[in-house]
Amino acid sequence: MNREEALQKITSLRNELEEHNYKYYVLAQPVISDFDFDMKLKALEKLENDFPEFADINSPTQRVGSDLSKDFEQVEHKYAMLSLSNAYSEEEIADFDTRIKKIINTDFEYVCELKFDGSSISLTYENGKLTKAVTRGDGVKGDDVTRNIRTIKSIPLQLRGNNFPNEFEIRGEIVMPFDVFNQLNAELEKSGEPLLANPRNTTAGTIKMKNSKIVASRNLDAYFYYILGKDLPFDGHFESLQKAKTWGFKISDATQVCQNLEEVFQFIRKWDKERFNLPVATDGIVIKVNSKKLQENLGFTAKSPRWAIAYKFKAENVATKLLSVSYQVGRTGAVTPVANLEPVQIAGTIVKRASLHNADIIENLDLHLGDTVFVEKGGEIIPKITGVDISQRHPMFSKVNFISTCPECQTELIRAEGEAAFYCPNENRCPPQIKGKMEHFVSRKAMDIDGLGQETIELLYSQGLAKNITDLYKLEKSQLENLERMGEKSAQRILDGLEASKNVPFERVLFALGIRFVGETVAKTLVNKLHSIENIISAKSDDLVEIDEIGQRIADSVTDWFSNEENLQLVAELQEQGLQFQISEEKIADRTEKLAGLSIIISGTFEKYSRDELKKMIEKNGGKNVGSISKKTSFLIAGENMGPSKLEKANKLGISIISEDDFLKMLE
Ligand code: IVH
Repeated sequence: MNREEALQKITSLRNELEEHNYKYYVLAQPVISDFDFDMKLKALEKLENDFPEFADINSPTQRVGSDLSKDFEQVEHKYAMLSLSNAYSEEEIADFDTRIKKIINTDFEYVCELKFDGSSISLTYENGKLTKAVTRGDGVKGDDVTRNIRTIKSIPLQLRGNNFPNEFEIRGEIVMPFDVFNQLNAELEKSGEPLLANPRNTTAGTIKMKNSKIVASRNLDAYFYYILGKDLPFDGHFESLQKAKTWGFKISDATQVCQNLEEVFQFIRKWDKERFNLPVATDGIVIKVNSKKLQENLGFTAKSPRWAIAYKFKAENVATKLLSVSYQVGRTGAVTPVANLEPVQIAGTIVKRASLHNADIIENLDLHLGDTVFVEKGGEIIPKITGVDISQRHPMFSKVNFISTCPECQTELIRAEGEAAFYCPNENRCPPQIKGKMEHFVSRKAMDIDGLGQETIELLYSQGLAKNITDLYKLEKSQLENLERMGEKSAQRILDGLEASKNVPFERVLFALGIRFVGETVAKTLVNKLHSIENIISAKSDDLVEIDEIGQRIADSVTDWFSNEENLQLVAELQEQGLQFQISEEKIADRTEKLAGLSIIISGTFEKYSRDELKKMIEKNGGKNVGSISKKTSFLIAGENMGPSKLEKANKLGISIISEDDFLKMLE
């Protein structure tokens, strides 16, 4: 076959295979057998191998993903990804309708849609090709997960037809169908591994996986519900979705135009029942004003559009039996009770365990082993027990008494005044606490040691190779290489990661130590004020509370931690290993007090710097970046698309609003 013929064949196979993908994954109407599909895919693969010059990232052969592991780049959203305000009753929806009618004087329509419960995604298409897929992130910035999203077969890589805008964004929800989720859990159960909580979290975890081959194997799906762009050629939201359907996107057939509130309510009542027959999780109904022009008139609050609202379904409540209560010890020693239940199906997934949170909850429910309990799975990750059917209680059932000693190390538990949780105080000897501390130490926001995850730490600990954090720095290559599923390369990666961690700045080292209540921000504050570990060790609780944002609880926890000999020993050993325990010279040199005592708000998106960079500048110059406006706010740096409610509040409180340039001038 010559090149020209090959290209022709490759192009026709690609078109044909994408057509079949569309029929199978979007329309759910396959027209060829899986076997025939695979044969054609293999033929295409062979041709692409023989003629590598015709490689194309949008080829159906590329949907299988790749083993190459790469970190995700953070990218700023062109249009912020906002959330929706929630309603829990028909009255609240009627209030929403009233609010809208106060602003809009003409007749208008609503569009009702299912609210899919997965992970939101924003896709960019340029000239009909998928160019970028970004997660919601914090709404302003998200992770570029394009290579993972390309593996989802119901997402078009190349749009169908030719009447799509040159450039637009489309937003939707990535979901994992119940049958895929249940299959995954069945496999985990077989191999004795911990089960996944629900499809939503599993979806979020899957799209952030570094290995896109695994993503491809997980059969994710996606529904789309929002199109954004300049000069889009339609006014109706419903119409825009129907157009998107013709371009190849999966748009739910449930989407419906409603002329009035009564029709909206009928839609809600219908789907409140029928949602249980859907193949994917939904957690409510989204009601939107149909006309884009009217949407523009209504605008946005700081958090959500005024033209849409989410009606949340009531959580499903199911009765089952309480078999036993087990207790988990976390990194900080907090002991969490977990109810083991007779397996029961709730909202499409099988539930076997429910969180009981703490001893008070057990007491308030007056739980007895064998009780018939009501389990609810709401928006939360873990289902909870909401009540007990006392009429089903047998007199022989025994009351659940919270344990008094640690299930892992048998140390007597303690409960601090005013706190709900019981703690195991044996922080340096209790296995889950030691492992948890190590996991926290190596985690991304702490020392960020590549290659050392939960599994490896579990192995290192169980084999006696690392009994505490300092042992990690004493590991030898031969010891690592001998671990299960570890090769020369991974061993070297860990050693390199440990070596590199010696340059991690002091504030992250302090955070990595895992002192209770010392999160990233507190660690930063302590380091900026006190500069060295020696100063922190010698600080008294009274000195610490003098520092802005350090309260008594944090101060006591810090002084407590550093009064423990073993902890001081740990610090000394880490110092010996060469970790940073001083603020860097450059940081001190870089710091000014130009913004000392000022509380500053950042709102909107900016031209020259990202919000994160601006935040760093504020902190470096002695100021404080705060989240919400109050009388104490010194000024607000306003960027583009700043929320109107923020603006209104700032004006009301007489807070001055400055531009990015004004701010930069202040620092000159
Ligand atoms: S519209 C500006 N429509 O719900 C409004 N969102 O709580 C954009 N979601 O972040 C959202 N189904 O992840 C919209 N039919 C639907 C939806 C939907 C699910 C998610 C989405 C959003 C969250 C808001």
